[in-house]
Amino acid sequence: MGRLRVSGIREVKGVVRVPGDKSVSHRALILSSLAEGVSTISGLSGGEDVAATRRALVRMGADITVDGALVRVEGGVREPDDVLDCGNAGTGIRLLAGMCAGIDGVSVLTGDRYLRRRPMDRIAVPLRRMGAHVDGRENGRVAPLVVRGGGLRGITYASPVASAQVKSSLLLAGLSAQGSTTVIEPHPTRRHTEEMLTAFGVRVEVREERVTVHPGPLTATDVAVPGDPSQAAFWVVAGLLGGEVEVPGLYLGHGRAGFLDVLSRMGADLDVDPATGTVRARASRLRGADLEASHVPGVVDEIPILAVAAAAAEGSTIISGAAELRVKESDRIASTVAMLRAFGVAAEERPDGMVIHGRPAFTPAEVDSRGDHRIAMAAAVAAIARAEGDTAIAGWEAVATSYPGFAEDLVGVAGAGACAPADG
Ligand code: S3P
Repeated sequence: MGRLRVSGIREVKGVVRVPGDKSVSHRALILSSLAEGVSTISGLSGGEDVAATRRALVRMGADITVDGALVRVEGGVREPDDVLDCGNAGTGIRLLAGMCAGIDGVSVLTGDRYLRRRPMDRIAVPLRRMGAHVDGRENGRVAPLVVRGGGLRGITYASPVASAQVKSSLLLAGLSAQGSTTVIEPHPTRRHTEEMLTAFGVRVEVREERVTVHPGPLTATDVAVPGDPSQAAFWVVAGLLGGEVEVPGLYLGHGRAGFLDVLSRMGADLDVDPATGTVRARASRLRGADLEASHVPGVVDEIPILAVAAAAAEGSTIISGAAELRVKESDRIASTVAMLRAFGVAAEERPDGMVIHGRPAFTPAEVDSRGDHRIAMAAAVAAIARAEGDTAIAGWEAVATSYPGFAEDLVGVAGAGACAPADG
């Protein structure tokens, strides 16, 4: 489907079960493919990003079978027999490249036209320091990447970017290196890799923004993937802008619940039950709240939908220290500001963020996702909650990378006719 038509304004009410966490899903597949024995994974994300990682691991020799809701993985990986196509997934390509750096042989990793624009030198530089040969187009800056792995040594690396993907890539390479590998980050990022390596029996030490992995074998285990908080954020904001929404079963651990703190600062009426990972959001009068560099890693994927909340809030919001957004699935500073402006919101780009001036109502819009699933879903929430009339979202197919059932869930909470495929 190319375009989605969304008909606002509608109340958004009900319970939404979001897909399995995308970050956790990639890692569950990768670690169980590296482990000895059979692991099972329940609740795996059904999006295309994770499916691409699954296919790549099969190319490397992992035996992965899907049995209803349960995925069974018999570990064991070697040099892949063909190019690894990571689709749209930055997490997939960066984590797999780290894993391939630890495997004897040559791996070639590529992706779609959006992924092939994103920076890979952030992993290529430290993986080379560990002893891997990494090359790619533009002097190894972008994919396709060629990795000749094996024979690595552990390093201590102070990463210039706060990126869980960079950290995870090096930790995965470090599993087969000689000596331990330490990554130091400018700001702490999500800890899924550290948490899951521990569950697979690997020794990992975490101290604030410093993490060390000790090489060693992985032992197969069973992983239950929790709901994805980044997907829940769309429904939470939809509830806050007009309705009442409950999203159960979420991962609310380190580095992923930051959006709830930001929304609370904006005046959101939220109930959070950490024991069940349930978040309830009720219609609230929001006010603008600024975001700075130290907040960004904790909300890095939620900024498009937080920007929609800011656009519907009283007052202005300044987002700074967020230059990383320029190298996401789209240039998310440019695409978020363009999306808001299409709805009649006053918003301006800054080199490292944006300024958003809230307004009570939006005008219906023609939005282009620019190939970015999160821009498309943020626009759908803006339209349903604040824009009276029909909004068209072009490039809706990008949503399949992470949340293929989003439009159905929108109908589930906003009623029949809330959205439908549009011509053209
Ligand atoms: C992710 C880390 C973040 C995030 C991405 C998922 C991960 O990327 O934006 O969607 O699973 O490690 P960066 O590491 O580039 O910040």
